[in-house]
Amino acid sequence: MSELTSSSSPSTPKLVTTASELRAAVRAARAAGCAIGLVPTMGALHEGHLSLVQASRSECGFTVATIFVNPTQFAPHEDFDKYPRTLDADLESLASCHADLVFAPRREDMYPAGCSTLVQPPQVAQRWEGECRPGHFQGVATVVLKLFNLAQADVAFFGHKDYQQAAVIRRMVQDLNVPTEIRVCPTVREPDGLAMSSRNRYLSAGERQQAVALSRALRLAEQMAAGGERHAAKLVEAIDRVLAEAQIRRIDYVAVVDPDTLEPVPELTRPVVVLIAARVGGTRLIDNWRIDGPLA
Ligand code: PAF
Repeated sequence: MSELTSSSSPSTPKLVTTASELRAAVRAARAAGCAIGLVPTMGALHEGHLSLVQASRSECGFTVATIFVNPTQFAPHEDFDKYPRTLDADLESLASCHADLVFAPRREDMYPAGCSTLVQPPQVAQRWEGECRPGHFQGVATVVLKLFNLAQADVAFFGHKDYQQAAVIRRMVQDLNVPTEIRVCPTVREPDGLAMSSRNRYLSAGERQQAVALSRALRLAEQMAAGGERHAAKLVEAIDRVLAEAQIRRIDYVAVVDPDTLEPVPELTRPVVVLIAARVGGTRLIDNWRIDGPLA
């Protein structure tokens, strides 16, 4: 058991399912002088999620984790129905890292009949995941804004692994004057480098071996940049080669982008983020790596 999940006699966090229960618990915590930290999740928790809970606990007196597999961010052909739902195990994990409250609403409470307002996501949602998964960020922005309004959190915690998602949420909060601060926490990786993801559990043993090529390719790109390579196209070529060697052929995108706008950057003269999305077997995986420099 790792540091993130080890604990002495954890007690199960309180589980609530309705907006009024959530609001009452948050009101009481605030009255007791606590800042409210929010960790939105779709469940199937892994150590990446638990690191967000830990980050929240280190900054806020009261941490709310939410578990809701949000239907509006899945296209009809995507994995909404098969997305892992593991509430009991999730509650145990959240107990081990001492979350204070778990909000796991029912679909009909989040989206009651007649609910038809959707958030138009910002420009930064257009490319990459936005192109591959039309409507995805509209669903993410909508549910995250609803969760922010429900929990009235001071700070919300997201993972760097979903880099574009974090950029979309940061911009939405800025554009819509949402009084919640956004923290983006480092990607948690398996010992061999694979970024933790709830979808990793779909991988067969062979696919799991192949999947590590994503992080291997990103590390190679970083090494090339550290060695003086400044042409983004060369990094992309090298990444494509590593993925091809691992028999990963269904690549949605490999891109070297500006960390804020997510627009492609041809030359590495300033920090960039390298983004990858590819299918390993039937499982779509994403990963990214920030290259800070020194670059010139
Ligand atoms: O990253 C996720 O798990 C989801 O996109 C989020 C932010 C919980 C919204 O459903």
